[in-house]
Amino acid sequence: MKAIIANKKGIENIEIREIDIPKIRQNEVLIKIKAIGVNPVDWKGVESGEFGSSYILGSDISGIVEGIGNKVTKFKKGDEVIGSLDWNKQGAYAEFVASEERFLTTKPKNLTFIEAAAIPMASLTAWQGIFDKLGLSKNEKIVIQATAGGVGLFALQFAKWAGAFVIAIASEKNTAFLKSLGADMVLDYNKIDFSETLENIDAVFDSVETAEESFKILKKDGKYVGISSLSTPISKKLIAQYDVTATKYLFKSNNKQLKEIVMLIENSDIKIFIDKVFSFSEVKKALKYQKNGHSRGKNIIVPD
Ligand SMILES: NC(=O)c1ccc[n+]([C@@H]2O[C@H](COP(=O)([O-])OP(=O)(O)OC[C@H]3O[C@@H](n4cnc5c(N)ncnc54)[C@H](OP(=O)(O)O)[C@@H]3O)[C@@H](O)[C@H]2O)c1
Repeated sequence: MKAIIANKKGIENIEIREIDIPKIRQNEVLIKIKAIGVNPVDWKGVESGEFGSSYILGSDISGIVEGIGNKVTKFKKGDEVIGSLDWNKQGAYAEFVASEERFLTTKPKNLTFIEAAAIPMASLTAWQGIFDKLGLSKNEKIVIQATAGGVGLFALQFAKWAGAFVIAIASEKNTAFLKSLGADMVLDYNKIDFSETLENIDAVFDSVETAEESFKILKKDGKYVGISSLSTPISKKLIAQYDVTATKYLFKSNNKQLKEIVMLIENSDIKIFIDKVFSFSEVKKALKYQKNGHSRGKNIIVPD
């Protein structure tokens, strides 16, 4: 099978190689990959070397079950699945992958494989931030940074589904689009300093790294979550000074939550937005486009 391998650090050093189809263990499912979701961590990992020196890139897949280990109970050959694979192993950018069934759930019936590959990491990150960490509830005011991005579009839709008042931060070209998805207010970060404009906000979902500016707009006891620059801790002094709750977190692949998200998608409560679709041979182009940081929704790679 073809697999996309990070060999040495740097996007330019990525190689497409012919390797053996993986063998499955007893608790694993062999999946024929139909589409792969690109996440910022894919290029960040290649540049930093955080996943090692030689590995198959990527986390998010959609595909068809090709074989099952004898301890697999939830899936059978021919099932259509999605999932975010084991973070420590990566392995999604390939024609086949072996994955433990706990990372997988059934693909939404109303989506193509390309659309379905957009779901796992971005939606789980948004879900865990909006519900598990912020506990967002009806009528609360939330500011969502990078709202038009892969994670932001899920965060916006989950927050609206929860009945919150959403202030979206994006560039002007995304204003009408975000309002059409229910954003109550959209601020253009190129023209408006949100930290000077807003006040008395209940919650901030931050994908950009704006902790101190966000604390300024939060009400006393307001809540902040950040998902970028996880190695830079939030200052405890600032948290105490502004009297807020603040945390950064790494999402967790969770097939129970993914199943709940799939139900919302099948119910047409949540929509999927694809920016660009690339082939395997365009992988470097795909990662550079993602790195540029202005995608609207998700980028996808499909086997050639
Ligand atoms: N901790 C975790 O578990 C976790 C999980 C997933 C992602 N992440 C991280 O979260 C971040 C976002 O991920 P993503 O997949 O949503 O990225 P993405 O899709 O690449 O985000 C692109 C969006 O960012 C917006 N943007 C760029 N600069 C901005 C700024 N200064 N202010 C506001 N918006 C800005 C762009 O809007 P315009 O085009 O309008 O400029 C674009 O819509 C990344 O750093 C990623 O590594 C963390």
